[in-house]
Amino acid sequence: MADKLRIGIIGTGGIAHAHANSYRQMPDVEVVAGADIIPGKARKFLDEFGWTDAAAYETHEELCKRDDIDAVSVCTYNGQHAVCAIAALESGKHVLLEKPMCVTLAEGIDIMRAEKKSGKILTVGFQPRYNNNCRKIKRIVESGELGKIYYVQIGGSRRRGIPGSTFIDKDKAVFGAIGDLGCYSLDLSLNSIGYPKPLSVSAYTSDFFGKNPKYYPEADRFSVDDFSAAFIRLEGDIILDYRMAWAMHMDICSDFIILGTDAGLKATAPSPNPLWGSIISGDIAGLYLMHDQCGEPVTTPLSLEQTRGDIFFMKVRDFVDQVEKGGKAPIPTSQIIYNQAILDAMLTSAREKCEVKIKIPEI
Ligand SMILES: NC(=O)c1ccc[n+]([C@@H]2O[C@H](COP(=O)([O-])OP(=O)(O)OC[C@H]3O[C@@H](n4cnc5c(N)ncnc54)[C@H](O)[C@@H]3O)[C@@H](O)[C@H]2O)c1
Repeated sequence: MADKLRIGIIGTGGIAHAHANSYRQMPDVEVVAGADIIPGKARKFLDEFGWTDAAAYETHEELCKRDDIDAVSVCTYNGQHAVCAIAALESGKHVLLEKPMCVTLAEGIDIMRAEKKSGKILTVGFQPRYNNNCRKIKRIVESGELGKIYYVQIGGSRRRGIPGSTFIDKDKAVFGAIGDLGCYSLDLSLNSIGYPKPLSVSAYTSDFFGKNPKYYPEADRFSVDDFSAAFIRLEGDIILDYRMAWAMHMDICSDFIILGTDAGLKATAPSPNPLWGSIISGDIAGLYLMHDQCGEPVTTPLSLEQTRGDIFFMKVRDFVDQVEKGGKAPIPTSQIIYNQAILDAMLTSAREKCEVKIKIPEI
């Protein structure tokens, strides 16, 4: 059918399967091409999904040259996000870009400039945005119930959960736990309070578990961070206190807490905290409002909400819907550039052992 939305998938590794699984459930969408720099990988991937007529390429440039593709999913490792997203935008395609947005603030700015010039949509793939408990937290903050927000603590983490594959290779992923889980926790916390602008970051990173064969079998290949902590100043005199671990001798770094002048909100992690689980995907065990009533401090448990359906499918569907109706990016770069600026500043601050001021140019 000629009126189907024509999709290309760039990078056909692990997460591309989740994109493909989502697209194949959509009758209004057709996956017409895939690209992967590993010879034969895109062909095998497309065939696995029954898309034997779809074209397989070994570079993203060849896929982007096709002018009959409406939109692409960029599912490469982090270090290749910017080059692929920019090539897709410059060739007139809408982009669903996997998280994190990219690996530096400068790359993020380049992506935004290409997006602006192209007039196309670029959305960044943070599927926990579609989790109803994450949405509820945002609604509570927006209701004004907490008063002025002045402090947020986020600490989604794993006790033992270092992934393998390209995630631990600095040349490909650039970030370790920071770019894998950290960008999610930043998105959850910043989105809940309206994405205030970041002003400065003082961060620490370490690699004590990834580099130790006692804890990680591929220690000789490990070249990224496995733990990070940061003190982030945000516009509006708000502090974001962040900790993130792929591995540590602790069950969780912290619950997710928001302190306001009228009330505090606490989202707790599942207990006992699973080794691989994390609060940042919306896997929340309890939600509590802490406030005063009749002059006494009280704690009110709030109900948790079920999320009906698959949040990954929802993020892909939302992207497709917005493209089809000429709408807006559901998770816009105007927000995620703040997330990216913090990730970038974290690496610099940790390396130089000092606070880093964040400056984001006008785009
Ligand atoms: N949203 C989520 O839940 C989620 C989960 C896992 C990973 N991710 C993100 O998805 C991205 C990919 O992760 P993964 O686990 O699939 O990695 P992966 O290494 O399994 O797959 C990446 C693929 O991209 C290919 N590639 C690299 N550069 C390319 C280029 N220029 N053109 C074409 N192909 C190229 C690689 O050869 C590889 O096959 C990462 O950025 C990661 O953060 C998101």
